[in-house]
Amino acid sequence: MSTFWSGYITLLTLGTIAALFWLVFATRRGQRSDTTEQTLGHSFDGIEEYDNPLPKWWFMLFVGTLVFGLGYLVLYPGLGNWRGVLPGYDGGWTQDKQWQREVDLANAQYGPIFAKYSSMSVEQVAQDPEALKMGGRLFANHCGICHGSDAKGALGFPDLTDAHWRWGGEPAAIKTTIESGRIAGMPAWLPVIGEQGVQDVASYVRHDLAQLPLAEGSKGDREAGKQLYATNCAACHGQNGEGMALMGAPNLTRPDGWIYGSSLGQLQQTIRHGRNGQMPAQQDYLGSDKIHVLAAYVYSLSHKQP
Ligand code: HEC
Ligand code: HEC
Repeated sequence: MSTFWSGYITLLTLGTIAALFWLVFATRRGQRSDTTEQTLGHSFDGIEEYDNPLPKWWFMLFVGTLVFGLGYLVLYPGLGNWRGVLPGYDGGWTQDKQWQREVDLANAQYGPIFAKYSSMSVEQVAQDPEALKMGGRLFANHCGICHGSDAKGALGFPDLTDAHWRWGGEPAAIKTTIESGRIAGMPAWLPVIGEQGVQDVASYVRHDLAQLPLAEGSKGDREAGKQLYATNCAACHGQNGEGMALMGAPNLTRPDGWIYGSSLGQLQQTIRHGRNGQMPAQQDYLGSDKIHVLAAYVYSLSHKQP
């Protein structure tokens, strides 16, 4: 901010406070000091006003707020370029610095608790009720918004409690998914195989791979679809539709693990335009120790103890 505007704001603010001080004291002068039964003579629906001075506590409240305001403006930024002199904040208070301080404090306090688990394997941590409780809280805060608070997923977001995994359900794979994130690349096929091709291969996937019924008279030619599948899809989804964790390509024989729907219309839409599900990386955000506990929590969801 330029010196002019900084000075302008400072003068305006301090001037206003000075004027308010004057107002509070000036209106007090000339008031009677004792109390009286005498009224001012006007009446609002029968309610009258005594000619009494402002109660002392009320007056002090006014003065108190003005003094508080001045104190606040000394400690916090508020007067133009003035940064404030709040103790503990070198160069003045900011929201960012306060947030960082709270994060550092929490890390110092809870960090050792998380660190305790980092020397244990994910499977071991998944047996520890205390760790699972912490993992559950982390999940609710950072993951539930997409995967659901019960981790059962939604359209476009995988269920993490079932036996179906796109990127692998082993502890190491789960951890990598959370640390580095995942970007799924299912290409759009309409430009490659045309609308008839989309319908053919969708019918093949639904009927022959997923073993789901097709409506009478649906237009797809499954034989042609099978050919299209072998040339275009098998590279990622496998010869028999078994999927490939390396690509995040789901198993096409297990429709209960699909996230974009298994109706013929939804299948066609997926194949026509492709899909790019993205799992955001958490490493920079949560750090290794918390991710370790989270991975154990996620692992425990599909590996319930008897
Ligand atoms: C380059 C690799 C690749 C090729 C080739 C490919 N897919 Fe996919 N496919 C994927 C990936 C990765 C996903 C997961 C997309 C996501 O999670 O957003 C996927 C998802 C799907 C889904 C959605 C499953 C669900 O969870 O709802 C269907 C259906 C599908 N593919 C069918 C096909 C068909 C049919 C072909 C051939 C025409 C094909 N794919 C070719 C990689 C591929
Ligand atoms: C912004 C939404 C979003 C958030 C937040 C999110 N995820 Fe995901 N996650 C996804 C999507 C979308 C996928 C599927 C990616 C794909 O299509 O392959 C996914 C996939 C996964 C997978 C892999 C599932 C599989 O079948 O292989 C795991 C494990 C996972 N997430 C765990 C987590 C955890 C733990 C958190 C919390 C730190 C989290 N996710 C937060 C969107 C999210």
